[in-house]
Amino acid sequence: MDVKRAMRIDRRDFLSGAVAAGAALAGAPRAQAASSAADLSTWPRVRDQFLLSRDTVNLALMLLASHPKPVREAIDRHRRALDEDPVTYAMSHLETGDRETREAAASYLSVKPEEVALTGNTTTGLALLYGGLPLRPGQEVVTTTHDHYSTHESLRLRAVHTGASVRKVTLYAVPETASEDEIVSNMVKAVGPKTRAVAVTWVHSSTGVKLPIRRMADALADVNRKRDEADRVLLCVDGVHAFGVESEAAPDLGCDFLVAGCHKWLFGPRGTGIVWGRAAAWKGNAGIIPTFDWAAYQAWMRGQSPDGLPPGPRTSPGGFHAFEHRWALPEAFRFHQQIGKARVTARIHELARHCKEGLAALPKVKLHTPQSEALSAGLVCFEVEGVGPQEVVDRLRARKIIASETPYATSYARFSPGLLNTPEEIDRAVAAVAAMTAPKGASL
Ligand SMILES: Cc1ncc(COP(=O)(O)O)c(C=O)c1O
Repeated sequence: MDVKRAMRIDRRDFLSGAVAAGAALAGAPRAQAASSAADLSTWPRVRDQFLLSRDTVNLALMLLASHPKPVREAIDRHRRALDEDPVTYAMSHLETGDRETREAAASYLSVKPEEVALTGNTTTGLALLYGGLPLRPGQEVVTTTHDHYSTHESLRLRAVHTGASVRKVTLYAVPETASEDEIVSNMVKAVGPKTRAVAVTWVHSSTGVKLPIRRMADALADVNRKRDEADRVLLCVDGVHAFGVESEAAPDLGCDFLVAGCHKWLFGPRGTGIVWGRAAAWKGNAGIIPTFDWAAYQAWMRGQSPDGLPPGPRTSPGGFHAFEHRWALPEAFRFHQQIGKARVTARIHELARHCKEGLAALPKVKLHTPQSEALSAGLVCFEVEGVGPQEVVDRLRARKIIASETPYATSYARFSPGLLNTPEEIDRAVAAVAAMTAPKGASL
């Protein structure tokens, strides 16, 4: 299809009403689309919103979300309308759909919508952030040994394509005994005169350690006081395992960029994600994938670049997407806001604490996630003496408990207690781990 023509249809015919009439035929108008608010006053009522199987205890939803009812219904509404008339519906919602999604993300993060780029997952967000980061020759990015494959590979690819220099440092020696002072001082020591960015992950999926992002940002602010704007060290954070868990407003974290997939803890549609950056931090990041923002198209037709666009729309990867998922994302933000961000945080921390206490009490189990709530969130990583992590996961699955194995060089078994779990389920999971360590013939 000729995109340029199609987007002209969007702007001209839609505004003149021709497409609006078609869209009304093609699907439900957005105003009628909002479903009435569900009762989310108790955890069982929240659980009722999901089709997640009740046959298993699922402690691995941090990898990929099940969709709550309002998200499922929104996806269905958009999908039906797209199936009935894909072009008319997509063209008439291209701008409003993305704008509403950006606004919902901004409301959840307490930031400006134009500072939010829409992506398909965390990995794409990291790639567009690190791929487009303005680096002068000789400048470097410092990352850590604790980061995920997607951060390391985004930076490695950046180095392959541009010769940029990337250095990995260790922030803590032993995860379970890590301290804020140790982490902050190791980060500050790692920053040199050529460092332009520090690339970290808020909650490590390798160990469950949560970094003290605010303290790290404050320490970097001291370093930056002596630097020009173009040389400031940017604090870039993969926030995916805190997004939908912790309740801080993004600006209060003090970082420059926050990247997250929305299809994990947030229960957003699978294949959605965001990048938020402070307006000043976005400066110089031109993006790496052409945006489909209409203003960029118009600039292109005039032979101009889209540099004048706000950073979010300018850096959001274009091309057509699974729009039914992207445009259903506002429902996930609203779902969390309706439960209450603070309530979400308290519940996940309470379940994780219960899980850590249970595992720590088992003689042959080593907990690798700190007990401290300041240094942990919802991930719980552990080892069972004499049983490899994959085997732990397999044996749990045989008991209908879904866990995951951390995909890192040093691998652990991992639970991720979340809003769809109960304390009783945690007890069941801990008892199943205990059974692995019990002497043969012992009854548990
Ligand atoms: C810390 C971290 N970052 C990024 C990812 C990749 O996330 P996505 O599937 O949204 O790209 C993962 C995977 O779970 C992860 O643990």
